[in-house]
Parts: sequence; structure tokens; C-alpha cells
Amino acid sequence: MSLLHAHQLSHRYRTGGLLRKRGWLQVLDSIDLQLQAGESVGLLGGSGSGKSTLARLLLGLETPSQGQVSFAGQAVSQLRGEQARAFQRTVQLVFQDAPGAFNPQRSIAWSIAEPLRHLSDLDETARHRRTVELLEQMGLDAEHAERLPQQLSGGQLQRANIARALAISPKLVVLDEALSNLDRVLQLQLLQLLDALRRDHGTAFVLITHDLTLVRYFCQRVVVLDAGSIVEDRTVSGDLSFEHPTGRQLQAAVLPERPTKTCARVSTSLA
Ligand SMILES: Nc1ncnc2c1ncn2[C@@H]1O[C@H](COP(=O)(O)OP(=O)(O)O)[C@@H](O)[C@H]1O
Ligand SMILES: [Mg+2]
Repeated sequence: MSLLHAHQLSHRYRTGGLLRKRGWLQVLDSIDLQLQAGESVGLLGGSGSGKSTLARLLLGLETPSQGQVSFAGQAVSQLRGEQARAFQRTVQLVFQDAPGAFNPQRSIAWSIAEPLRHLSDLDETARHRRTVELLEQMGLDAEHAERLPQQLSGGQLQRANIARALAISPKLVVLDEALSNLDRVLQLQLLQLLDALRRDHGTAFVLITHDLTLVRYFCQRVVVLDAGSIVEDRTVSGDLSFEHPTGRQLQAAVLPERPTKTCARVSTSLA
């Protein structure tokens, strides 16, 4: 059985209001998607195509207008009590906005341990040990644990944000543009760490991004969303060329290699 199954998901938002006529904005239309344990799926699509909305629906943060998301054969919107807690332990979402995810008055360790306080039986000592272990896994030090969020750089804070999402050892992590503000070296280092989790523990990932390089590096499968519909869903192979115009546009957005001739001339003139 798949980890998470979205069946005929459609979603719309109310628009208009005081001064404008009220209406509906159809954001997602008949989405079918299955996520398997131990699989990394790239979710690509232009701005406004519905990627973040789909992520919120998959994680049960919003209820779809139509269709349903099932977890272990049950509709996520109907989970209650212990089953709802089990689902919360299973899925985590990481946003691009790391500062917004931390309490500015509390230490990094306090925020990372937050899901452990709510969703695990670990005592304070065990929580602290786990927090330091997670920070070190993300390439930070135990010393960072006691700092306030504003005392970390943007890249360090985003790593702490990912550490927090991993605290309860979720089975599925959705990274919504979560690596976009990091430099390429750090992006690839983090993806290597996450890939090790995938291989060793079967953690599944959904990587929402515009960056085809990251998809090629990290994902086994890629899904392309266009105006709320899935227009491609396929395995990632060496060339990663797309049939649909949206995929092709993303492909075209990757800068071509610099011509080697120019480089040769620069290096001769410098020599
Ligand atoms: N809470 C909301 N209320 C009304 N419209 C929304 C809401 N959230 C998103 N939208 C609209 O839904 C569309 C898809 O948004 P989103 O899922 O954030 O796209 P993406 O993540 O692909 O950029 C956009 O037109 C956006 O303005
Ligand atoms: Mg988005």
C-alpha cells in the first residue's frame, strides 16, 4: 500500500469580497497521486500552479473541496484521536520562510524539541540529546542549540528548520522551496543527508522547487503541475526532457553551459 494516496483532489478558494464580486478560484483539478515509502518525488510547476496548496492538502492542513487524501487506507480529514496523532508523526512540512517557523524569544533547541514534546514520550534529557544529534546531522554544532533564531545565519536557520522537521523521524517530508535560499554547495550537502535517510530509513520526500538540477540530483520521480492539473508524472532518467510545454519552460530556464572557446581565450589572456 502507498504511504499517501491523493484521489481525485480538487480545491477552490473563495475570491472577491467587500468591493469585488464574490466568486471561486479553482486551484487544483482532479489530482491523482500516490507517494511510496522511500521515494523522493520532485514537484515542479510555475508560480501559482497550486504546488503549495497541494502540499497543504496532502498533509491534512486544509480539507480538499472534493476528493480525498488517504493515509493507511483512511481519509486524512476524518482521522481523530490517536490516529490523528499517528498521522502528525508521519508527515512534516518545511517552508522556505525559516525565521517565521521559529519563536524569536526561544532558543533553537527549544523550537527543535517542540514536536518531540507534543508527539513523543522522550524526557527532557533524551529530547536534548536528540536535538543535538539532529543539529550535528545537519552540519551545525551543539553550541548553536542555545542561540536565539536571530543569532544564526539564514542558511544555518534553514538547516535547523529541517532538523526540527526530522525530529520525530517522519515517514514523509515535504520541502516547499525549503532549499531555495541556500547556496548550491549547501543544497547538495543537505540533499545527500536526506538521501541517506531515504536509503537507511525509507523516509519519503516531496521536493517542491523550480530547480531542475536539484530534481535530477535527488529525485527518482518528477511530477509537473500546470494550472492545477498534473501534466507529467514520470521517473527521472539521465536526460530529464519533458513533453509538456510547462516542463519544457522549466528546462529552458536552466542556463546553458558557457562556451568552452570563450573560457579558453580568458585563460590564455590571463596567463
Ligand atoms: N488561502 C488562499 N486563498 C485564496 N487564494 C489562494 C490561497 N492560497 C493560494 N491561493 C491561490 O491559489 C493559487 C495557487 O497558489 P499556490 O498553491 O500557493 O501556488 P504555488 O505554490 O504553485 O506557487 C494562486 O493563484 C494563489 O493566489
Ligand atoms: Mg508555493
